[in-house]
Parts: sequence; structure tokens; C-alpha cells
Amino acid sequence: MGNDLVIVANRLPVDRVTLPNGETGWRRSPGGLVAAIEPVMRTHGGGVWIGWPGGTDQKLKPFEEDGLALVPLSMTQDEIEGHYEGFANGTLWPLYHDLVAKPEFHREWWDEYVKVNRRFAEKAADLAAKNATVWVHDYQLQLVPQYLRELRPDLRIGFYLHIPFPPAELFQQLPWRRQLLEGLLGADLVGFQLPGAAQNFVRLVRQRVGHKTHRDLVYLPDGRVVRAAAFPISIDAAGFEDLANSDQVVERAKALREALGSPRTIFLGIDRLDYTKGIYARLRAFGELIRDGHFDVEDAVFVQVAVPSREQVEQYRLLRDEIERLVGRLNGDLGRIGRPAISYLHTSYPREEMAALYRAADIMVVTPYRDGMNLVAKEYVACRVEDDGALVLSEFAGAADELRQAWLVNPYDINGMKTALLEAYQAEPKELTRRMRAMRKQIRQHDVKAWASSFMTELEDQVHTDHQKVVRPANRS
Ligand code: F6P
Repeated sequence: MGNDLVIVANRLPVDRVTLPNGETGWRRSPGGLVAAIEPVMRTHGGGVWIGWPGGTDQKLKPFEEDGLALVPLSMTQDEIEGHYEGFANGTLWPLYHDLVAKPEFHREWWDEYVKVNRRFAEKAADLAAKNATVWVHDYQLQLVPQYLRELRPDLRIGFYLHIPFPPAELFQQLPWRRQLLEGLLGADLVGFQLPGAAQNFVRLVRQRVGHKTHRDLVYLPDGRVVRAAAFPISIDAAGFEDLANSDQVVERAKALREALGSPRTIFLGIDRLDYTKGIYARLRAFGELIRDGHFDVEDAVFVQVAVPSREQVEQYRLLRDEIERLVGRLNGDLGRIGRPAISYLHTSYPREEMAALYRAADIMVVTPYRDGMNLVAKEYVACRVEDDGALVLSEFAGAADELRQAWLVNPYDINGMKTALLEAYQAEPKELTRRMRAMRKQIRQHDVKAWASSFMTELEDQVHTDHQKVVRPANRS
């Protein structure tokens, strides 16, 4: 027995939380990964999902939640600190995001990362049926493909990186660069958001591990062939569109606008509270536009939802303080009674409320310094069912490759952002419709189902190729 499909991700799609009544319950985890994989499992009508449920409770048994079979893998306090907060989010996260913050390299963190990756691989090896497909996700688990292949050579293993993969010049700072590359090479197919990331990976494998490569293929000495390719992730576009069209969301969007004092224009930012997201700079740009007299707090408000994230990591705590100080200052300097310049919320919302916010917002502002994709940008587009609204989007988000009709900005350039925000504010309805229509077409055609099925199809083809033992080209570089 066993499962034909095993998803392995650092987190389960739900977190264990203490509810207001003191009881413990489950709440959907934040972030794009969960939003993307959940529909995949539902489409496949089964399989199991292995992940950390948050916290240190060792006694949790496998369970079903909302129709999904979940297998919790708990961590000790040392593992949380070394693997999750340490190596994953203190080393890899900033390193893979263009050094937006300074990565720290600690040998004890690496040891915990190895330990946790090994445990995930062992659990997947236990649960997978013969010749099953195992799909491993994201930067927290880059060693799992190798460990899993050692335990279960019969498996078809896919790996997908949800965040950027850095250029060689940055990656090679890592003391454990070779181990991570070898970890990923345990997979048959390694997926990235953008073609440039796949090319970075293949180049590094050639330079640092010494394997032969040809275009997107890596030839291992044991005859296996690993493919590295781009699969830009997406959203359940039809699901968001339906939600945005529902009476409940339409009503809620109206109520939100009224609650904000019925301003002419609502600007919106929704992000995990993360230093890669560029929240501080965008709020400054907005504040300066008011200060410069381009609009007034009666005309415009900026709603910023900051979803709590990684709150035990010091850089995240400092960021929260910085942003909240700025919001306080902007509201103090620019706001009037009942009319703040920034309506700031430090919380996470269910999908329905997000859809209502997207429907209410005239201008969505997504300005990360670096982002693998950014699904919020795509969700906004999917929810603009009347082909109106404007998207201001960082060039450094993966989504910018597809959403070319957004107002594209360099988030390091505050004046450039001010110009783009103002242009979006002043744009004619016809111009908004032209842009939004094109973006909505793109999102509809490239939704999360298309993403998952193209990854799965390529994974099957790739394994098939392996079994055929392809003749290696004579002149590979
Ligand atoms: O996509 C990046 C990612 O780190 C996911 O792996 C994760 O689910 C999400 O962001 C939220 O982060 P965290 O699991 O650290 O709360």
C-alpha cells in the first residue's frame, strides 16, 4: 500500500492555533505555497501532504482537514530555531532574495537543516507507494530529493522552488553550496519560477559540482538525467473570479469603501510582513504624493494589510517597528480626524475578505525588491471582473514577466514609484480597461491548474526519458 502522490512542504496548509475561546484549532497557513498546492491535491483527488504544523507538539497524529490527508511532522525548539528561523529564513531567504537583508552563516543552523531535511525524506519514503510521485517544495527542503532518492530509487521525484534562485555570484557565498546543489539533483525535475533561475542552477551545477550539462539537462555519472526548467506559478483564477462575483463579496466591497469614508481612490497593499516586499518605500512614496499636494486624504487612502510572519526572527520584528513608526508618522502628519492617510492592519484575512478588498481597491500596489512570483498581484487581476482598476507592480517580482500591462516600477526608485502611482491615479477608464483586460486574459489562460499539470506532465516525461537511458550528446557543454 502507500500513496501514489506525496506532497512534501515545510508547512502543512493549516497551522495549529489557540482560538479566542482557549481551545486549539487549525487555521490556513499564510503564503503563496499553500494557495498553489491545495488545489493540486484536490484535483488529484487524494495523496498525502507532509508538513510542519507549527509549534513543537510531538503528539499530533495524521488527520484530515477539509478533505485533505495531512501528516504533521513536528519540530523541536532547537529545530525551529536552527532549521526554520535560522538556516531557511536567516540564511537562504535573504541570500536568495538578492541580499535585501544580510544572510547569516552558522554551522549549527546548517546541522539542524540537514537533520530536518532527513526526517522529511524518511517520512516521505515511508508513505510513498511503489513508483509513486513525490513532489517536494521550496527552499526549506532542498536536501530532501537526494535523501529520498537514496532511500527510494523507485520514486519519481519533482522539486519546485517557489522563491527566486540567485545568480552564481551570490549563491557561491554559501559554505554549503555544493551540498545544496547535490540535494536538488536527487530530483528528476527541478522547477523554478523563471527561466533565468533554471539557467543559474544549471550553470552552478556545471561550475561547482562538475557534472556535464546541455541546455536544461544535467547528466549525472550514474546515467540519470535531471531537467531544470521554469514553471511560473499561478492562482485559481476562476475560483477568485467567482468569489469576486458573489453577492457576499460585492456587498462587502461596498461596505469596506463606506467604512473608509467613500474616498475617490483606494490604494491597496497586501503582503506578508517581510523586508523583501518593499512596504516601507511604497508608503513613503504615497505619503510624499499627499505632502506634495497631488491628492488629499479626502480623495485617497492607502489600505495596507501586513500579514504577521516569522515573528520570532529579529529582522522581522525590526521591520514591523519601522513600518508601524512610519504609519504613525504619516497619519500624524497628513491625516485628519476620521481620515487617516494609511489604514494599516496587522492581520491575515480569509479569501472572501481578500476578494472584497481587491474589488474595493482602485489601485493595487505590489512593490517587492525581489519576489519569486507574487500571487497577490495575480489575485487582484482575477478579481477585477469589470476590467477596471490599476496594478502598480515591481519589475523584480516574477509576475512582472506575465503582467506586462501593469505600471511597472523599480521599487528602489521612490520618485519613479511616485510617478507610476500618480499615473495610475489619473489614468482614463479606457486605458485601465485596455490594460486590465489583457492581464486578465493572461491569468485565465495560465492558472494554477495549468501550472500543476505542466509540471506533472514534464515530470512523467522526464522519468520516461531516464528509463530509456538517452544517448548523451557528444558535445555537451
Ligand atoms: O513562498 C515562500 C514561503 O516561504 C513558503 O514556503 C511559505 O509557505 C510562505 O512563504 C510563508 O512563509 P512561512 O512558512 O515562513 O510562514
